[in-house]
Amino acid sequence: CGIVGYIGHRDAYPIIIKGLKRLEYRGYDSAGLVLYDGKDLKLCKTKGKVSDLEEKVAKEISTEGHIGFGHTRWATHGVPNDVNSHPHFSNSGKLAIVHNGIIENYEPLKKELIKRGYVFHSDTDTEVLINLIEDVQKTDNLKLGKAVQVALNQVVGAYAIVVFDVNKPDEIVCARLGSPLAIGIGEEEYFVASDASPFIEFTSNAIYLEDEEMAVIRLNKPMKVRKIKDDSLVDPYVQELQMNLEQIEKGGYEHFMLKEIYEQPNVIKDTYRGRLLANKGIIQMSGVEDNLEKFTNAKRILIIACGTSWHAGLVAEYIIEEFARIPVEVEYASEFRYRNPIINKDDVVIAISQSGETADTLAAIKLAKENGAFVFGVCNVVGSSISRETDAGAYTHAGPEIGVASTKAFTTQITILTLLALRLAKAKGTMNHTDYQRYLLELEMIPEKVQEALQTNDVAKTIADIYKNVPNALYLGRGYNFPVALEGALKLKEISYIHAEGYPAAEMKHGPIALIDEQMPVIVIAPNKGHYDKVVSNIQEIKSRSGKIIAVVTKGDIQVKALADHVIEIPETSEALTPLLTTIPLQLLSYHIAVLRGCNVDQPRNLAKSVTVE
Ligand code: G6P
Repeated sequence: CGIVGYIGHRDAYPIIIKGLKRLEYRGYDSAGLVLYDGKDLKLCKTKGKVSDLEEKVAKEISTEGHIGFGHTRWATHGVPNDVNSHPHFSNSGKLAIVHNGIIENYEPLKKELIKRGYVFHSDTDTEVLINLIEDVQKTDNLKLGKAVQVALNQVVGAYAIVVFDVNKPDEIVCARLGSPLAIGIGEEEYFVASDASPFIEFTSNAIYLEDEEMAVIRLNKPMKVRKIKDDSLVDPYVQELQMNLEQIEKGGYEHFMLKEIYEQPNVIKDTYRGRLLANKGIIQMSGVEDNLEKFTNAKRILIIACGTSWHAGLVAEYIIEEFARIPVEVEYASEFRYRNPIINKDDVVIAISQSGETADTLAAIKLAKENGAFVFGVCNVVGSSISRETDAGAYTHAGPEIGVASTKAFTTQITILTLLALRLAKAKGTMNHTDYQRYLLELEMIPEKVQEALQTNDVAKTIADIYKNVPNALYLGRGYNFPVALEGALKLKEISYIHAEGYPAAEMKHGPIALIDEQMPVIVIAPNKGHYDKVVSNIQEIKSRSGKIIAVVTKGDIQVKALADHVIEIPETSEALTPLLTTIPLQLLSYHIAVLRGCNVDQPRNLAKSVTVE
């Protein structure tokens, strides 16, 4: 979730709304804000995006006020809807709060407060916290800051909060434990936010609260920062922000693409959070559970997508057929829609799209629906056209992907589709329990292994420097890693403008082998699984024609290492899960080649992030 607050002499509303937009990468289930105009608290909140909030504000409230705060949410307790959105008020209506994080002991606290006469309007843990603060304040007749402190000492969990009291209108109180909070210090004005991006154009002085610290921010008075536990005063370190606006939005990375590559361990976790309960042997995705029979009765699954999403579909074909034994066909949406395809009522169609706006995919979905098929969407952008047009679906929760070359969208799509395949395997009884359980545990470990795979960055950079000027490159893989070869080649093409082709390794001898000479780098994906021996033979064929071999291998590999010019090592995992790891060094390799060639990595020529024309 993201928080933005303001207290000072400017209009708070534009600062809050713009700040929320910058923080939207942190969550986009719902958004809300509260403004104080000197007399009343004005609240506006909604399910959906910050732009939805903006529209609602225009219709519902006046935007005067020099104090206020807002929130953009990624739901933890309570489904994303208007009521559960932040800010929340206390029962008296005098206190308002926004909160990131989770109050773990909210249930006993809530029970106690209900006994004391408090009424709850939402399912959130946050409403419990604000009423607890109010209760403490009333019972012990405390100032706001003190009441917040006493309440937080009763709380178990994580939080970043901002609290306002109508009775103390020149003050806001904020606190942090586990969730970031930065305070921007201007001239007779203060900003509070989850990161510095919302206030970077107003001040370059900021304090980052440490865990278990709180700040009472008063207009025209020095700010006080204290330890929540023992009330001791802290002398906060005021940082001079070095970064410009753009860099902050890139989180300190040189390019969005690199930032997004590095986000993969976290976003894969976000994708399976709440859906994969590995220890309990459970996979739960509401869009799948609600339509389980449609999936298990399907005679065929048709996957439609474009670009990188189509590659994720190809990986899914291998996984779904292997795990759930349902025939899968993967189609380019643009081909499918124009070729009078055979669609049956008992087909399940899966549409994959990061943006949820790709015109060809959208048209293909409509065609499938007209023919009576059930369409399941796998989208990243919440509320996008495809997510609305499909009968059911699952979001990837990768956060905004800004780099045009898709990276984290790809791995999170594969994550969702692997969860789906495992869920169907369980429902259909096509996988034995031991294997099923092992896959769940292994999938849970993937973020850690992706993190390890990211350590190939330096090797990838060194190799990039050697091959940055080649005119062509060939990518080879077998089985689950054949689509990864296609995706690796696409990444290189997209951002470095080097001609590259992906091929199933064994198909090389039916054509591409004619291209191989000492100038030609061949990137071979060769984890020690599946048809490893066959891939080794393919590598020998390349070597005897003097091709340069860059091999992605499992850590500890000996055989391929002896043959290849360069090896990139990734951690070990089951064959079906290897695409989530093998793809990482290929992303990094393309990235570095493009940077070394001086290309515009985030906005490659002629391409667009979301292709809304056919
Ligand atoms: C464009 C983007 C690609 C993306 C493709 C499909 O070509 O540049 O990165 O894979 O569209 O987009 P979608 O949003 O439907 O996944």
